[in-house]
Amino acid sequence: MIIKSEVCSSACCFSFCSCSLTGLEEEDSERLLMKRLVAVLLLLLLNNAVKINGEESDWNCKYKTGLDPRPHSVSILEFGAVGDGKTLNTLAFQNAIFYLNSFADKGGAQLYVPPGRWLTGSFNLTSHLTLFLAKGAVLLGSQNVSHWELIEPLPSYGRGLELPGGRYRSLITGYKLTDVVITGDNGTIDGQGSVWWEWFSSHSLNYSRPHLIEFISSNDVVISNLTLSNSPYWNIHPVYCSNVQVLNITVRAPSDSPYIDGIVPDSSNNVCIENCTISVGHDAIVLKSGWDEYGIAYGRPTTRVHIKRVHLRASLGSALAFGSEMSGGISNVYAEQLYVHDSFTGIKLKTTRGRGGYMKDILISDVIMENVEKALGATGHCGSHPDENFNPNALPIVDRITLKNVIGKNITRAGNLSGIQESPFTSICLFSISLSITSDPSTSWACSNIFGFSKSVFPEPCPDLQSLYLNSSSACFSLQPSDGHSAVL
Ligand SMILES: *[C@@H]1O[C@H](CO)[C@@H](O)[C@H](O)[C@H]1NC(C)=O
Ligand SMILES: *[C@@H]1O[C@H](CO)[C@@H](O)[C@H](O)[C@H]1NC(C)=O
Ligand SMILES: *[C@@H]1O[C@H](CO)[C@@H](O)[C@H](O)[C@H]1NC(C)=O
Ligand SMILES: *[C@@H]1O[C@H](CO)[C@@H](O)[C@H](O)[C@H]1NC(C)=O
Ligand SMILES: *[C@@H]1O[C@H](CO)[C@@H](O)[C@H](O)[C@H]1NC(C)=O
Ligand SMILES: *[C@@H]1O[C@H](CO)[C@@H](O)[C@H](O)[C@H]1NC(C)=O
Ligand SMILES: *[C@@H]1O[C@H](CO)[C@@H](O)[C@H](O)[C@H]1NC(C)=O
Ligand SMILES: *[C@@H]1O[C@H](CO)[C@@H](O)[C@H](O)[C@H]1NC(C)=O
Ligand SMILES: *[C@@H]1O[C@H](CO)[C@@H](O)[C@H](O)[C@H]1NC(C)=O
Ligand SMILES: *[C@@H]1O[C@H](CO)[C@@H](O)[C@H](O)[C@H]1NC(C)=O
Repeated sequence: MIIKSEVCSSACCFSFCSCSLTGLEEEDSERLLMKRLVAVLLLLLLNNAVKINGEESDWNCKYKTGLDPRPHSVSILEFGAVGDGKTLNTLAFQNAIFYLNSFADKGGAQLYVPPGRWLTGSFNLTSHLTLFLAKGAVLLGSQNVSHWELIEPLPSYGRGLELPGGRYRSLITGYKLTDVVITGDNGTIDGQGSVWWEWFSSHSLNYSRPHLIEFISSNDVVISNLTLSNSPYWNIHPVYCSNVQVLNITVRAPSDSPYIDGIVPDSSNNVCIENCTISVGHDAIVLKSGWDEYGIAYGRPTTRVHIKRVHLRASLGSALAFGSEMSGGISNVYAEQLYVHDSFTGIKLKTTRGRGGYMKDILISDVIMENVEKALGATGHCGSHPDENFNPNALPIVDRITLKNVIGKNITRAGNLSGIQESPFTSICLFSISLSITSDPSTSWACSNIFGFSKSVFPEPCPDLQSLYLNSSSACFSLQPSDGHSAVL
């Protein structure tokens, strides 16, 4: 008997789940798995350009990038930095970036960080800049709280996520920038977050924890070829941004680190996450768009997000999650080729009354899951509120969510899908899903206030999802390849 707790963001719902694991595997489901695997592989080969809602789009992650070499490059050594892991280099980074600002209208510049251990407090970037971390270069976040500046909360949240009031600025911040690249030869940004995790756990934080990298109101951002580790809080947080690419990144945090999320696109559009490996304590990739009345008033959705070829591990959270803060809306998301392992939940939609907003037009396809307690979750009862002024009648809408081509091995329970009575989740579509379940398959699904369709799903889902498939082709969300042939099944 093992007991795990699932925690959502903003210290909200705790759903306790006890499970007995038998490791039982049936020959039949093994054979079915192989059949499905072949189907998935065929599908991967068929991957091509897609249209969404009839409109040709950037779903292949080919946004304009700033990866051409910059005409100017300086090393952080020229600003007096010392890579001994002890000397504080915040001023060196600030001075270097102030200097490189003067190249913004001359094609931009690169700040080169050579091998070494470069201790620093938080600092801001500038436009038309490439921050390049050489192989063996490690940026270390200071463990002294006075090296982290305090800033205002985000307008779409109204307060810090963890505590009322302001929040600490991220280790690396881009604010109102354009054309910025953080890359390297697999250099590392290590937040040294253990002190923050202890302050969080012992309730001695005075403000909400800082992220490792945050871009606010910025466009044309690339983060690539790096390893991020031990972030105090979230690892990569683009908020109010357009054209963001996160490519070939490794993210690591201990499995018991509190609420550490990987990549968190928030009120941002045209976001691409590709070839990333993420292993964290909480959600590996989670899409958000603001919190209750603040998020509704700010009104900026997260939309046109493409996630492709990612390895995800979310020990106590969800590998791919949506919400629970989604008050500006989340739509047009395409996630494909996910490998999920050793996680609490595979894929999860979370929201609650008071959020308003919507989560709609989401397609998740070609997923392999191993050693996951709950493959799929959707809840309309997850999350706390920023203050007492939220509107309990602001009901979120969840509609047109498609999950297809999923193989699961050593899954404890298939899923719990529970909508809101006054605003049921609609057009939840499940196709070609085969889960090898270690609990009783007849009780593996739990459903309430949800409607949808299913075909070729094992174990057999709740009757709420067994409307005729013939009805589903128009109701379910799908992407069309550019030649016009349907990509669903
Ligand atoms: C640095 O970023 C913060 C947002 O985190 C912003 O408030 C501040 O104005 C920025 N400073 C500069 C010099 O850009
Ligand atoms: C933290 O940094 C402040 C300012 O740089 C310094 O005065 C203080 O001694 C440092 N605290 C520790 C524990 O190093
Ligand atoms: C991914 O990054 C590693 C090192 O950071 C590099 O060696 C490799 O070529 C990169 N792969 C791609 C596809 O960019
Ligand atoms: C980058 O370095 C980390 C160790 O710091 C390693 O685990 C990872 O595999 C490397 N990534 C690539 C793409 O080489
Ligand atoms: C929070 O504030 C208290 C009282 O000023 C202080 O003793 C404590 O060190 C602060 N905690 C952190 C993590 O800064
Ligand atoms: C990542 O590194 C590889 C190998 O150096 C390079 O070919 C590729 O262009 C880089 N990709 C990005 C997006 O930085
Ligand atoms: C992702 O990885 C695959 C396989 O290594 C490679 O073909 C592709 O170019 C990579 N994509 C990017 C954007 O680096
Ligand atoms: C099955 O998955 C659970 C986690 O859900 C894990 O603890 C267990 O070790 C896995 N069993 C095997 C045989 O891999
Ligand atoms: C499913 O989730 C709902 C709300 O999140 C909860 O009330 C219910 O107990 C859960 N059912 C099962 C069988 O876990
Ligand atoms: C859709 O299914 C329902 C029952 O599941 C049926 O009554 C209805 O006629 C179907 N509609 C179409 C267009 O097939």
